[in-house]
Amino acid sequence: MTDQSSHAFTGISDSNQLNPLFARAGESTDFPLNTIPPGESLPETAYQVVHDEAMLDGNSRLNLATFVGTWMDPQAQQIYSESADKNLVDKDEYPQTAAIETRCWKMIATLWNAPDVETTIGTSTIGSSEACMLGGLALKRRWQQARRADGKSTEKPNLVLSSAVQVCWEKFCNYWDVEARYVPISDEHRVLDGSDLKTYVDENTIGVVAIMGVTYTGMYEPVADIAAALDAIQAETGLDIPIHVDGASGGMIAPFLQPDLVWDFRLERVASISTSAHKYGLVYPGLGWVVWRTLDDLPRDLVFDVTYLGGHMPSFALNFSRPGAQVLLQYYLFLRLGYDGYYRVQKASQDVAVYLSGEIGKMPAFTLWNEGTDIPVFAWQLTKGHTDRWNLYHLSERLRIKGWLIPAYPMPDNISEMVVQRIVVRNGLSRNLAESLILDIQEAVDYLDALESPMPTEGLISTFTH
Ligand SMILES: Cc1ncc(COP(=O)(O)O)c(C=O)c1O
Repeated sequence: MTDQSSHAFTGISDSNQLNPLFARAGESTDFPLNTIPPGESLPETAYQVVHDEAMLDGNSRLNLATFVGTWMDPQAQQIYSESADKNLVDKDEYPQTAAIETRCWKMIATLWNAPDVETTIGTSTIGSSEACMLGGLALKRRWQQARRADGKSTEKPNLVLSSAVQVCWEKFCNYWDVEARYVPISDEHRVLDGSDLKTYVDENTIGVVAIMGVTYTGMYEPVADIAAALDAIQAETGLDIPIHVDGASGGMIAPFLQPDLVWDFRLERVASISTSAHKYGLVYPGLGWVVWRTLDDLPRDLVFDVTYLGGHMPSFALNFSRPGAQVLLQYYLFLRLGYDGYYRVQKASQDVAVYLSGEIGKMPAFTLWNEGTDIPVFAWQLTKGHTDRWNLYHLSERLRIKGWLIPAYPMPDNISEMVVQRIVVRNGLSRNLAESLILDIQEAVDYLDALESPMPTEGLISTFTH
């Protein structure tokens, strides 16, 4: 009897075999890795293979390296799957998603104390990187226009920023031919604080970047002090230099946890602010926001028109097609949580961060760099003289055995001999999990401290990128 006749006999055809328990072609044989397979496979088979490969990734909930959301509630998941097919750029075809996008950036502009939400402008982006690029481009174009109007050269724009900026700013300067003038951070000046700005700015400075939640450590830069330093520079030299606030994380923390901290559009010098909705905006990956103080802060010639309900809608973006689902998810969260809900979620994360930093700070092996009281992120160093047998890279490896992803990495250029380890506390890292983490850290430290000879260090480098 042939195979086919046995199928005929059992009434099971090739295309609807019962669960083959990993014995189906494709599961029991290899798919080619770098070429498209010659023929089709069952959806169940393809699903199983992809699902199983993805299973080899780390557990995203234990990934304490990322700032990006790893949990949303089931209703959000439902909206996500219902709207995964919507292209955000099709404003005319999906006018309601377009209207919701506008509502969202206006809500955020209000949260950031824009002087008048009717005369401000904003947009969603794919994340903070695109939002920062747009903020930087607007600064550059405004500077060029002012220079041209004065008959001056526009050949050598520069941007002043901390040496601890996220890589998106290095990219901005590289891609758009802007000289990056890095103000080095040090043990004494742990963030850009405006203290030495005079030596960095000149007539070619398109702006200063202030970070609300430095990626390396989670600390806020004092935007008001930076603005005051620029006010003094203007009084002395006449240079009127705007600020872009990179609020990738802090933009969605400070309005809830530090409402009295003046860092946003309450400062006249702040021309634009960006944030990642997929960080403390609590949305899954793929969404950011940028808002300009007034329409005048975003030069018109950077803005394109798209048709929308027979009319026109301004569009300023690097991408054309983009997922629309994340915008709906952001709106869902604004309705679901409201201001109070956001406060409670962010406060819960901060409480866990402060608990963790307190426990880690008590361990003699470690010296805290900060405590997680700005955004719920903190970093620590190995206490000087504690050991010469192991370092934070070894600790990171030991914790990985337990599933925790907690990176160790060098600080930026002028203090790059300093290695720190960082924890990002996000919604979903409960107090219970945090207590387990402390036990695992203590156990790893005990193991490493008990070593009789040093751990090998050859080939031990940080693979972590900011
Ligand atoms: C301060 C800062 N700016 C920009 C970014 C880039 O954000 P995104 O990953 O949303 O592009 C990050 C990411 O960690 C960041 O921390």
